[in-house]
Parts: sequence; structure tokens; C-alpha cells
Amino acid sequence: MTSTVFITGATSGFGEACARRFAEAGWSLILTGRREERLQALSAELSKVTSVHTLTLDVRDRKAMEAAVAGLPAQFATINALINNAGLALGTDPAPKTDLDDWDTMVDTNVKGLIYSTRLLLPRLIAHGKGATIVNLGSVAGNYPYPGSHVYGASKAFVGQFSLNLRCDLQGTGVRVTNLEPGMCESEFSLVRFGGDKAKYDATYAGVDPIQSKDIADTIYWIVTQPAHININSLELMPVTQSWAGFAVERHKQG
Ligand SMILES: NC(=O)c1ccc[n+]([C@@H]2O[C@H](COP(=O)([O-])OP(=O)(O)OC[C@H]3O[C@@H](n4cnc5c(N)ncnc54)[C@H](OP(=O)(O)O)[C@@H]3O)[C@@H](O)[C@H]2O)c1
Repeated sequence: MTSTVFITGATSGFGEACARRFAEAGWSLILTGRREERLQALSAELSKVTSVHTLTLDVRDRKAMEAAVAGLPAQFATINALINNAGLALGTDPAPKTDLDDWDTMVDTNVKGLIYSTRLLLPRLIAHGKGATIVNLGSVAGNYPYPGSHVYGASKAFVGQFSLNLRCDLQGTGVRVTNLEPGMCESEFSLVRFGGDKAKYDATYAGVDPIQSKDIADTIYWIVTQPAHININSLELMPVTQSWAGFAVERHKQG
């Protein structure tokens, strides 16, 4: 029987690459995102190789999420994998200079959106049982502090702890949970973070050889297709060119 993956945020970056990777392996796809045209274009392309169901919605809209999951066509009713990928960072200004609306948006998307899709799909994943998998997109930003990360990093720390806690509650169901924690990857993520500033986007990746969305999709596919008795709890990956810069120390003027 064909396996089905539910991917949030499939209109670009990791989500779109996952759609292609799972389609290539013969999985049926449920693809979500707000940008209707992109979803339709991807669906038109991938429908040539597999079954695709699209849901144009905002993950922050709990009612829309509830209706979409309740209304899944019978062919897509059994879910084998949930990739909780929709998310964003807004800005890199220090906390006192940020717009509180941006903080709201990050919490509503990265935290609340992710818990909505998880809770709504849990019954279907549990019904599938052994081998079903949830992959949550955390980040190295949830593990290490850096200037300008404030609410974004904190939202990803939430994803990490939520993933661990879910594992406890899913004990005995066969459902697996992974927190995937990438470092610097090239995608529209930075364009969104910099408010569409292409020069800042280009400067971010210049000379870095960052991880690409396809690399993440391959990693997620590997996680989901591990033997059913193995749970990858968390997996952190970075480009070789990225490491840590140490502590900042403020020094008082002497003498
Ligand atoms: N790129 C990185 O360096 C990096 C590193 C670590 C973790 N991550 C995480 O990985 C995930 C994917 O990032 P990416 O690099 O693939 O970024 P991306 O290319 O900007 O893709 C983000 C996706 O999330 C969707 N999305 C955002 N807000 C949404 C909302 N309110 N409702 C529905 N969908 C929404 C977007 O679709 P629409 O705009 O069409 O709705 C888009 O499909 C995010 O959770 C991000 O935090 C990224």
C-alpha cells in the first residue's frame, strides 16, 4: 500500500524539496502552504508521478487546520509521516529594537502552528502505528544562543522539548518523533528573515557552501525510512564552514 506524507510549508525550501524526494520514492503527498499558485504548480508537476492533495492554509489558523484535516479525502486519510516544516524567522535586530508583531508571528507559526498540525494528525499517525514518523524542524538556533535570535531560537527550543515530550506520550504507539536541527541552509528562509533584501541574502551565503534544501530532504527521507524499531531522537547538522564564535565579554574601561 502507498505511504502518505503530510508536509507543512511545501511551497519553497525544505518542504518543496521533501515533496520532490518523497514523490520520487512513490509516496502520496499532502502539501500545505499559503501561496496557492506555488502549491498548484508543484501539484501539477508531481501529480505526473504520484497522488497529490493540496491544502492552501495558514498554519496559524486553527479552525482552517481542523477543517482541512477533518476533510481529508479517503485516499489520503492514512498518514504515515508528518513533516512539521512550516516556519520562519523575522529580523536579526537585537530584542529591544524588534517589532512585537514579528515575535507574535514567530510564536504563532513555529510554536502554535506546529502543535496544531501535530495534535490534529496524531490520531491518524497512531492509527497507522509502528513506523509512523513525525519530523519536526527545529534548528541549531534552539540549541545555541546568538545575537538577534531571541524569539526565533526560543521557538525552536520549544520544538526540541516538545519533540522529546511527545516521545514520552507516544510510548507504546509505535509512532516516532525526530527533532531535526539544521544550521545554515540556503533557502528563501533568509529572504523572509531580511524582509526580502536580496543583497543581505546574497551576503549571508557568499563563500559559505551552505546546506541545500535537497540535502535536508534527503536527511528527512532517511529519518522516515529507518527500520520501524529505530527512533532518531534528534539530528543536528551544519555546513562544514559554520562553527561557533565563543562568548562575548564586555570589558569596563581601565584606569
Ligand atoms: N534555512 C535555514 O537555514 C533553516 C535552518 C534551520 C531550521 N530551519 C527551519 O526549517 C523550516 C523550513 O525553512 P526553509 O529554509 O525551507 O524556509 P522557506 O524556504 O522560507 O520555507 C518556509 C515554508 O514555510 C511556509 N510557511 C511559513 N509561514 C507559514 C504559515 N503561517 N502558514 C503556512 N505555511 C507557512 C512557507 O509557505 P508560504 O509562505 O507559502 O505559506 C514555506 O513553504 C522552518 O521551520 C525553518 O525555521 C531553516
